[in-house]
Amino acid sequence: MSINMKGKSFVSIADICEEEAWQIFDLSKWLKIKHFTNEEHKLLNGKTLGMIFSKPSTRTRISFEAGIYHLGGIGMYFGPNDLQLNRGETIEDTAKVLSRYLDGIMIRTFSHQDVVDLATYGSIPVINGLTDLLHPCQVMADLFTIWEKRRVLKGLKLAYIGDGNNMAHSLLHGCSLVGMDVFIASPRGYEPQEEIVNNALRHANAHGSKVVITNDPVEAVKDADIIYTDVWASMGQEKEAAERNARFQGFQVNDELVSHAKRDYLFMHCLPAHREEEVTNSVINSANSIVFDEAENRMHVQKAIMALLMQ
Ligand code: CP
Ligand code: NVA
Repeated sequence: MSINMKGKSFVSIADICEEEAWQIFDLSKWLKIKHFTNEEHKLLNGKTLGMIFSKPSTRTRISFEAGIYHLGGIGMYFGPNDLQLNRGETIEDTAKVLSRYLDGIMIRTFSHQDVVDLATYGSIPVINGLTDLLHPCQVMADLFTIWEKRRVLKGLKLAYIGDGNNMAHSLLHGCSLVGMDVFIASPRGYEPQEEIVNNALRHANAHGSKVVITNDPVEAVKDADIIYTDVWASMGQEKEAAERNARFQGFQVNDELVSHAKRDYLFMHCLPAHREEEVTNSVINSANSIVFDEAENRMHVQKAIMALLMQ
């Protein structure tokens, strides 16, 4: 039996259950086939998606905009200077007004609480397109990509090497939800938030899977099925870049580090990558790398999320 997700928001993977995750993956698969067989799949005919961006984006903006168009709807882009939000109008008032015009909102911003508030005060689905805390759409696309390559999720080991940031947080939520082992290796002081680790541990206990936070990249990568990394300085942390660069030495994903993983390991990165910083060209360009498949799947998976919430 399917779970009705209509009208719900998608702010965090922690808000969905495993069945809902698989419902998203199943519909993603169907929509991807329809896309490549050129069959009409206008599940959101005439619907409108507002897309609010306070930070830059290549993948998120374009995959949502193309995706809503494929589904028969239209996306409206609002950049950092487009809304009265930037002149002090409250999130609450903005949410109430946009709910009178639109069928859904996708938002990328700094404060996670702003996205929670938008979903709380509005009466239409809100989709989180990245906050300082989480990047749930990216991780749903990543899990779908792993499933496409391996036909299983439960029991696989994912090693994330780098900053305990929004990517690490959503990977903790997502991998633990589907029963994957997740190891995070970060420099001291850059580990993921405790509350998110505890949430992942609860899911892992239910599945009998592992959640390990370490400062040792080799321990994390040992026999891993998937190695994941992300930039050392995220959007908004540009001023910390030099200090972080120094602190993250030893956490680069390079040929020596990946030699500890399974031979057929998959390399993943949400992109954009800072090549030769967190990952060498030799790894990101290797046959093990699936970074462009995961980028493509953003579109198919977000189409599924929009269709399930906004129908
Ligand atoms: N991975 C990702 O979200 O990319 P953009 O910042 O280009 O949207
Ligand atoms: N951690 C990165 C992810 C970009 C998709 C950032 O927030 O900038």
